[in-house]
Amino acid sequence: MKASYDLWYRVGTPPWVGHARSTLVEMVQTGDLLPGRAIDLGCGEGDIAIFLAEHGFQVTAVDFAPSAIAKARAKASDAGVDVDFVIDDITTLATVSGTFDILVDYGTFDDLSMRQRAAYIDRVTPLAKPGSKFLF
Ligand SMILES: C[S@@+](CC[C@H](N)C(=O)[O-])C[C@H]1O[C@@H](n2cnc3c(N)ncnc32)[C@H](O)[C@@H]1O
Repeated sequence: MKASYDLWYRVGTPPWVGHARSTLVEMVQTGDLLPGRAIDLGCGEGDIAIFLAEHGFQVTAVDFAPSAIAKARAKASDAGVDVDFVIDDITTLATVSGTFDILVDYGTFDDLSMRQRAAYIDRVTPLAKPGSKFLF
């Protein structure tokens, strides 16, 4: 799975690339989602993370595909925003600590096997705190 995604980002443009998800954009634009510390789980090329950073969020963004993170870092640089992009597997997640006000997962959890989903829940739950929002 990791190698397939990495190859896809390296040689092509997956269909979700190029824009932040409309539901999230709407929540930010209406003020339903206020800036805070956010993490994007399975960030791909970083469109969601960059959108959030452009709107005042402090963003960490994780993906296990190095080619996706390389493109995401270049896009963030072009956009002039600071995002902490991390290459890591969200079912093990060794490099991220602390808690977040907003957790975002668009299209990643459903990629995982049942066993990986259990590992994901173990790793991601401690990143939340009372009052955190999980956009899923
Ligand atoms: C369907 S794409 C969605 C990308 C992005 N969330 C978006 O909406 O544009 C799923 C992403 O999750 C990443 N991913 C899948 N399993 C992962 C894992 N175990 N750890 C980290 N990233 C993972 C893939 O590399 C891919 O970028």
